[in-house]
Amino acid sequence: MTSTMAPARALRQRLLAELEEARARTLLLVAPLSDEELHTQHDPLMSPILWDLGHIAHFEELWLTRNLDGPIEFVEMPGMYNPFEHPRSTRGALPLPGLDRVREVMSEIRARVLDRLQSADFDADQPLLASGYVYRMVLQHEYQHNETILQTLQLKQGTPYSPPARVELPVVGEGLPVTGMVRFPGGRVEIGTDDRTEAYDNERPRHAVDVRPFEIDAHPVTNGQYLEFIAAGGYARPELWSEAGRRWLEESRVEAPKYWSRSADGWMTRVMDRVGPVEPDHPVCHVCYHEAEAFTRWVGKRLPSEIEWEAAASWDPDTGRKLRYPWGDEPPSRELANLDQLGFGTAAVATFPRNRSPIGCCGMIGDVWEWTSSDFGAWPGFAAFPYQEYSEVFFGNEYKVLRGGSWATRPGAMRNTFRNWDYPIRRQIFSGFRCARDA
Ligand SMILES: [Fe+2]
Repeated sequence: MTSTMAPARALRQRLLAELEEARARTLLLVAPLSDEELHTQHDPLMSPILWDLGHIAHFEELWLTRNLDGPIEFVEMPGMYNPFEHPRSTRGALPLPGLDRVREVMSEIRARVLDRLQSADFDADQPLLASGYVYRMVLQHEYQHNETILQTLQLKQGTPYSPPARVELPVVGEGLPVTGMVRFPGGRVEIGTDDRTEAYDNERPRHAVDVRPFEIDAHPVTNGQYLEFIAAGGYARPELWSEAGRRWLEESRVEAPKYWSRSADGWMTRVMDRVGPVEPDHPVCHVCYHEAEAFTRWVGKRLPSEIEWEAAASWDPDTGRKLRYPWGDEPPSRELANLDQLGFGTAAVATFPRNRSPIGCCGMIGDVWEWTSSDFGAWPGFAAFPYQEYSEVFFGNEYKVLRGGSWATRPGAMRNTFRNWDYPIRRQIFSGFRCARDA
C-alpha cells in the first residue's frame, strides 16, 4: 500500500498547489479592472472578461466534480458559458453577473473540487484520472484562458490596461548577430508524443516521419527585418501575396503589424499601457499568416511546416533523441525563455542564450507564437480524448498551426509538441514567424 499511497499524496499536493497558483494568476491579471471593464466586450473577437472567468469555473466544475460521478458530455456546460452555444461576438449581450458573484461561484466550485481531490484515485483504470491527467487538462484550460484574457486586454477600449505586476526582462548586449539559418540534416524524426499525463489529444500519438533536409532561421523574424519588408513596399506588391492574402489585404487595408502606428519619429508600437518605438531587435509580433507568408516570399524563402518546426525544436539528429523543450527536459524558467506573461512584451531575440535547440535554432519557445505552413489536422492514429470539442471539430483546412508559445503563455501550457491553431487572418494573437527553405 505505502508504495502507491505516498506518490498519490504527493501528486495531490502538487495539483492543489498548481490549482491555487493558476487561480492566483487569473485573479492578479483582472485585479486592475473595474466591473464595467470586465463586462465590456472590447472587441467582437473576444469575450467579455467576466465570461472567461465564469467559463473557467464551469469548465472546472464539469471536469473535476461532475465528471467524477459518471460520464459527461461537453455540451453539459451550463448555457451561458457554453462556447458552442454562444459564439464570441455575441457574448457581450449575455446577462453576465458582476465580478463579486463570479468570484463567489469560482470559490464555491473550487471548494468542491478540492474536496473531491482528497479522494481522487489516480491509479484508476480510467485514462482521465490516471496520473491526474484531468486536473492538468483543467489547469491548462485556465492557463490558455489567461492568454486569451491578455489578448482582450491588449485590445481593450478606453484607458489602456496597466499591469498589476511586471517582471523586467533581461537586456542583452548590443551587436548580437541575429541573421542566418541553421540546417536540419533530414532523416527519420519522431513527431508528437505518447504522454498521457498532460499532452492534449492532438499531440498524440508519437509517430515517425521522414523529413527532407531543410534550413530554418536561427531566430524569429525581427521588427528590423520586417521594417525592411515594409520599406520595400511589401504590402503593395501583389506578387508576394497569395490570392487569399490579397483579398485580406484589400479588405483590411493593413500596412503594418497590428498595434503599429507611424509617427514623425518613425514606427511606434504599444503593448498594454506602454508606447514606444518599434524595437528592431525584437521578434515581429501581431502579424497574420498572410503577412508572414508574403514576407517569406519577399526573402525567397517559405514558412516551415509544423513537422519541420517540431523537428528543428525537439530532435537531436546526432543522438536520435527527442527533447521536451528546445534546451532539453528542464522545465521553463525566467532564465530559459520569455514565457509566463509578467514581462508584458517580447524580449530582443538572443536574450536567452540557453533557449537553443540541438541544431542551433534559438527562441523557438516563448516571445511569439510562430506561424507554420500547415493546416490543423490529426496525426496518424489520432483518437479524440476526452472530448471531440477540444481538437477534432477544428481539424480541416480553415486553420493554420502555430507553435512555440508567446510571452503571454504560461509555462505549464507549453512544450515542443504543443499545437495551437487559428484563422490565417488573425492578428490579435501574439504571433510572429521564422522562415525556412529546402536545403
Ligand atoms: Fe475554454
